[in-house]
Amino acid sequence: MSRGLLHPVPCFLGLLLFWILSASSAHRCTVRHQVADCSHLKLTEIPDDLPANITVLNLTHNQLKKLPPANFTRYSRLTVLDAGFNTISKLEPDLCQKLPLLEILNIQHNELSQVSDKTFLFCLNLTELLLRSNSIQKIQNNPFKNLKNLIKLDLSHNGMPSTKLGTELQLQNLQELLLSSNKINVLTREELGFLGNSSLKKLDLSSNPIKEFSPGCFHAIGTLFGLSLNNVPLGPSVIEKLCLELASTSVRNLYLSDTQLFKTSNATFAGLKQTNLTTLDLSHNGLSTIGNDSFAWLPRLGYLFLEYNNIGHLSSRSLYGLSSVRYLTLRHSFTKQSNSLALLPKIDDFSFRWLTGLEYLNMDDNNFPGMKSNMFTGLIKLKYLSLSNSFTSFQTLANETFVSLAHSPLLMLNLSRNKISKMEGGAFSWLGHLRVLDLGLNEIGQELTGEEWRGLDSIVEIYLSYNKYLQLTSSSFALVPSLQRLMLRRVALRFAATSPFRPLRNLTILDLSNNNIANINDDLLEGLEKLEILDLQHNNLARLWKHANPGGPVYFLKGLSHLHILNLESNGFDEIPVDVFKDLFQLKSISLGLNNLNILPPSVFDDQVSLRSLSLQKNLITSIEKSVFGPAFKNLSSLDMSFNPFDCTCESIAWFVTWINSTHTNISELPSHYLCNTPPQYHGFPVMLFDVSPCKDSAPFELFFMISTSILLIFISAVLLIHLEGWRLSFYWNVLVHRALGFKEVDRQPEQFDYAAYIIHAYEDRDWVWEHFSPMEEKDQTLRFCLEERDFQAGVLELEAIVNSIKRSRKTIFVITQNLLKDPLCKRFKVHQAVQKAIEQNLDSIILIFLEEIPDYKLNHALCLRRGMFKSHCILTWPVQVERVNAFHHKLQVALGSRNSVH
Ligand SMILES: *[C@@H]1O[C@H](CO)[C@@H](O)[C@H](O)[C@H]1NC(C)=O
Ligand SMILES: *[C@@H]1O[C@H](CO)[C@@H](O)[C@H](O)[C@H]1NC(C)=O
Ligand SMILES: *[C@@H]1O[C@H](CO)[C@@H](O)[C@H](O)[C@H]1NC(C)=O
Ligand SMILES: *[C@@H]1O[C@H](CO)[C@@H](O)[C@H](O)[C@H]1NC(C)=O
Ligand SMILES: *[C@@H]1O[C@H](CO)[C@@H](O)[C@H](O)[C@H]1NC(C)=O
Ligand SMILES: *[C@@H]1O[C@H](CO)[C@@H](O)[C@H](O)[C@H]1NC(C)=O
Ligand SMILES: *[C@@H]1O[C@H](CO)[C@@H](O)[C@H](O)[C@H]1NC(C)=O
Ligand SMILES: *[C@@H]1O[C@H](CO)[C@@H](O)[C@H](O)[C@H]1NC(C)=O
Repeated sequence: MSRGLLHPVPCFLGLLLFWILSASSAHRCTVRHQVADCSHLKLTEIPDDLPANITVLNLTHNQLKKLPPANFTRYSRLTVLDAGFNTISKLEPDLCQKLPLLEILNIQHNELSQVSDKTFLFCLNLTELLLRSNSIQKIQNNPFKNLKNLIKLDLSHNGMPSTKLGTELQLQNLQELLLSSNKINVLTREELGFLGNSSLKKLDLSSNPIKEFSPGCFHAIGTLFGLSLNNVPLGPSVIEKLCLELASTSVRNLYLSDTQLFKTSNATFAGLKQTNLTTLDLSHNGLSTIGNDSFAWLPRLGYLFLEYNNIGHLSSRSLYGLSSVRYLTLRHSFTKQSNSLALLPKIDDFSFRWLTGLEYLNMDDNNFPGMKSNMFTGLIKLKYLSLSNSFTSFQTLANETFVSLAHSPLLMLNLSRNKISKMEGGAFSWLGHLRVLDLGLNEIGQELTGEEWRGLDSIVEIYLSYNKYLQLTSSSFALVPSLQRLMLRRVALRFAATSPFRPLRNLTILDLSNNNIANINDDLLEGLEKLEILDLQHNNLARLWKHANPGGPVYFLKGLSHLHILNLESNGFDEIPVDVFKDLFQLKSISLGLNNLNILPPSVFDDQVSLRSLSLQKNLITSIEKSVFGPAFKNLSSLDMSFNPFDCTCESIAWFVTWINSTHTNISELPSHYLCNTPPQYHGFPVMLFDVSPCKDSAPFELFFMISTSILLIFISAVLLIHLEGWRLSFYWNVLVHRALGFKEVDRQPEQFDYAAYIIHAYEDRDWVWEHFSPMEEKDQTLRFCLEERDFQAGVLELEAIVNSIKRSRKTIFVITQNLLKDPLCKRFKVHQAVQKAIEQNLDSIILIFLEEIPDYKLNHALCLRRGMFKSHCILTWPVQVERVNAFHHKLQVALGSRNSVH
């Protein structure tokens, strides 16, 4: 068995090898492409035997206390040194001297308590210095002054009381300064002054107990694009001051998540007026009141995050001024205290009208009482609107519900989880651009007349799964022929007699699963030529494929020529008609699991040449035969036939086990979920361990059986053949033998013969012969026949004379009558001579002239000749009608003139 079982010998050798390796060297660093990974090795010393040309050395998660510069002499090409998660308490200046090319130095999660002016003195090429999670309390003087190339400096999670990292201007290339989770109380001009030449993309001061922003603090920084103050309990008034301090800075991105900003007013962000702020994060603030014109100062804002707040009321001027916002999340932003109508959040009409640039709006997980007629008015660029679980009770989608979106070029609308119970005609008629409509997980229970979808001229996908019940009619989707994906899972689906899907010529995905469908017509899916994915699992279709079904099996898959994925799990199928997957050449995946299938008909998968995945788990399959599964298993990449009651006998699974052992197909849980059921002695035994060698032993027997049967058959056929056509065989055999033995064709020129033909006839027919052959001689002077009575020399023995004459004649003519057949002489010698000559001189030397109708078998019996031996023009029949005698003579002349050879 090649699978699953470890061979004890290689295993032992592996252990030995491992032991030798680990004995020879104290560490097991892996080195690949000049990267040495020595992490998680409990190292207390720097490995000294790594290749000297490594550029990256990873020493994380060890027990190093120091990084002695001398031990790095060997690795002078290092550009990255990661010594995080050790217990290093001191860094020596010489380290960088030994590592002049070092660009990234990571000492995070160590025990550094101080850095001095000398520490990084020689680290001139450093671009990243990561000192997060140490215990650096205070920075004295200018330890980072020489780091002219530094781009990122991480000092978060230390105990630093201030932002001050130096007394002079420095770090002119710094882009990210991370100081989160320190003990910084106040930001002052003086303590940020060292950044006067820097241009910071990100200054992270999150999780500090900052209470004050003293005047000019941010202006001390060269330029500041991003400021993060998440999780700093600032409160509204400090934030107001913060914004004033940010006035006229270059700040673009401001993160104020979880800063106790309970309310905003027209003053809160006033300071940001003279900025070009594009991103503002106000999430997780418990924000309950957004005062009018709060955002009036932010005309360039593009991204606004307001999720997880507690807004009670959005008034018509709350969002005033946000004309550039493209992305707004209001997910979980409104109050959730109670379902009492008075306490439900309120959005005034026209509240969003200011957001003329908004493209994406997420309002999931809120508790709005309903949709108002001007709720979304003015969102003239809105493309994506998610309203999942937004409303306490939507109930009916009426023709006016979405009127406020009439002027939005909406492409996607998510209305899932809103307790919608009914859609009225024209409800979506305002949404002519809509491509995706999600109505899943609601309580819709109705007949779809088709009017519901009126106006959805661009719709591509409708998701209706998980609703109460849907009754489909032939017109249900008549107005949305552009539909490509339709999901109708678990909606207690009911159909009318005619197919509701017929108008959907572009449908590629159809989900009808979990509907307990028991009865469909064979034309339900007719015409869905583009359908690629069909989900029919968890229905009740078993009866449709039974042979006993009145009217025969229902071929509801016919014509689905582009189908790629077919799911028919859990339908109770116990029979599959042999033609049911016929012509489905593109099928890549078939799921037939959880049915009651036992025997599948041979050839059922013959057309599934593209099949990649087949699942038949939890059926009643006992045997896996090549005639059924051979074609399907050919290109398979994954197979699931687990939990079937396999019959572990040669006939049932030997082929399967042999296939398993040679295939690359992924079969998961093979050892544990493919167990023998029968015969009793193998019950519970893994199929893959079934020994196929005894099955092979039966192969010679089978072969013997086959060979002996074949021989018997051949023998019987030969006997029959010889009996019926033996003459022909022996005749051609003779021809062949004589050819092979060198009897040359005797095709002498006509003048080399004395006679044109020797004529054999019965004594009784001599008058006829005289009557017809002598006139021919008279007419053509060169033509001379050998006529026994006339030409035989007197005194020569009759037999010799005949042989001689035959040899001297170019042809031999038999005049066949009943008399000839009875003539004793003919029966013996004459015929023998003639046949002999025919063999020697090839076929055409014999001409048969039938004066009467003689059956072939009589001819054969008397003369050992058959019509089939001769070319047709050598067989002549004496015509009864006088007018055909001329034609006969002509034919005779043709026959006399033909060459004596087989062609
Ligand atoms: C550094 O190298 C010296 C000498 O090779 C060795 O004794 C010492 O243990 C090494 N120290 C570390 C921390 O690897
Ligand atoms: C690095 O050194 C090792 C031996 O120490 C050598 O096999 C390898 O080719 C070297 N790589 C390069 C890129 O020089
Ligand atoms: C070093 O290894 C650790 C743990 O395997 C990994 O998280 C870290 O990213 C590595 N450092 C570098 C620079 O690759
Ligand atoms: C920094 O690295 C470059 C190569 O990347 C090197 O040429 C230069 O000498 C290094 N600078 C210092 C000060 O070592
Ligand atoms: C804002 O952007 C404009 C042009 O994009 C620029 O002229 C102006 O200086 C910027 N203001 C600030 C404070 O950066
Ligand atoms: C801010 O709102 C107050 C009333 O709440 C108003 O008196 C004041 O004029 C407003 N300020 C601006 C700049 O709109
Ligand atoms: C909406 O339906 C009502 C009746 O149900 C009808 O009076 C009204 O004209 C319809 N409005 C539109 C815009 O179709
Ligand atoms: C169906 O798809 C084709 C090709 O993508 C497209 O040309 C045609 O307009 C579509 N039909 C409908 C009704 O949208």
